Amino acid sequence: MQYARSFQWSAAVDHYRRAIAVDPESLEARFRLGWALCNQAEADKPSLADMAMVYGAQVLGFEQAARDGRRRFQNNRLLLKDAVFYLNSVLEKDPNHARALHYLAKALFALDQKADAEQAARKAAQLEPANAAYTNLAQNFDSTTPSSTVSSESMANTPHTWDELVLELRTKRELRQMQIMLEKPDMARELGVHPPTGILLKGPPGTGKTTIARVLAYEAQCNFVSISPADINQMYVGESEKKVRDIFAKARASSPCIIFIDEIDALLPVRQGGVAIHSDKVVNQFLQEMDGITPNTRVFVVGATNRPDMLDPAVRRGGRLSREIEIPLPDYNARLQLFQLCTRSTNLCSDVSLEELASGSAGYSGADIKALVNEAGLIALIRLTDTEPESPKQLKQEDFLAAFKNLG
Ligand SMILES: Nc1ncnc2c1ncn2[C@@H]1O[C@H](COP(=O)(O)OP(=O)(O)OP(=O)(O)O)[C@@H](O)[C@H]1O
Ligand SMILES: [Mg+2]
Repeated sequence: MQYARSFQWSAAVDHYRRAIAVDPESLEARFRLGWALCNQAEADKPSLADMAMVYGAQVLGFEQAARDGRRRFQNNRLLLKDAVFYLNSVLEKDPNHARALHYLAKALFALDQKADAEQAARKAAQLEPANAAYTNLAQNFDSTTPSSTVSSESMANTPHTWDELVLELRTKRELRQMQIMLEKPDMARELGVHPPTGILLKGPPGTGKTTIARVLAYEAQCNFVSISPADINQMYVGESEKKVRDIFAKARASSPCIIFIDEIDALLPVRQGGVAIHSDKVVNQFLQEMDGITPNTRVFVVGATNRPDMLDPAVRRGGRLSREIEIPLPDYNARLQLFQLCTRSTNLCSDVSLEELASGSAGYSGADIKALVNEAGLIALIRLTDTEPESPKQLKQEDFLAAFKNLG
């Protein structure tokens, strides 16, 4: 323990390696080595700044600096992999070794193997529920796992059903088709139709594309995996493709499942060859995975984009995201419905004319209208607190007009 206190983890690692050489069967020595390796990796974990440095050096062509930086990352991963090896060897002999499970979870997490890490962390917490470090780590996964099934909490602020979404009738019908097809794949097969394996939602920002994907998953009772380009694009060659493979594998394992890809144009841009070979590989991998989906796999891909023209054309061809649904900015009627929807739970003064607000908000998206109603509420809050404490607690037309001005 004297090593641990002085943070000389590498000396501790050497010490326990020697201890294992003397007594290869010692579980305690194996656990200690795994533990020290894990801590050493944690202590010289490359920071975000280091990552930026390597990337910068790579872009600018400073070969040596880029190589050194990369080596540091590689060394760190080697330490973690070593830690995983020794901790696993302890768990083989003693599967209920809570400490080993805890550190294994940490090492796996750092190696980005989140599913396995989560399993180990949960088991450690189950074995020793009184240990706060173990339970905290296990709970952390609840908030960090990017792919989550649709839970009632995450849906708390978003609409649950089609009725709570303001969309053109035609669009709603198309989405209903997708829902039925997800719910009843057998029926589609009996009818002999080839249901699409994915859709592309295209439209300006804030028109409800993300919400549509969530509601679709909720209504069709599917699991929901949401990914964004930042989750996929990794620094190491080959890692990004692996991520794409992993996501599809995970979706297949938890089918029926919707994979939602926000800003799909950034993830799957037009392939260019040459210097962009890295992103080309991600596109190729994605296309391969898409082609592997059959109606039986019950995995459905929903992409959302503001820039469909930036998307690789192959992604939009038959059998992939061939179905495209345009989600335009709301027209007058849709805006009126949006105002009605957003003010449903607010207390409105009789002088408020939603028709007037709807006609004054041409060009606003659903998200803008939601923000406007919120802003009006805040303005009313200040008005009622500071200047008119005696007035009824209601939103007035003037609050909305002030909100229009504030949001410009
Ligand atoms: N047509 C709509 N009906 C009901 N609510 C809507 C609609 N459009 C937008 N909203 C609301 O606006 C908010 C933002 O919508 P959302 O995030 O789904 O938009 P988006 O199209 O994904 O935007 P972006 O392109 O910026 O990602 C949500 O809270 C949603 O409830
Ligand atoms: Mg979105």
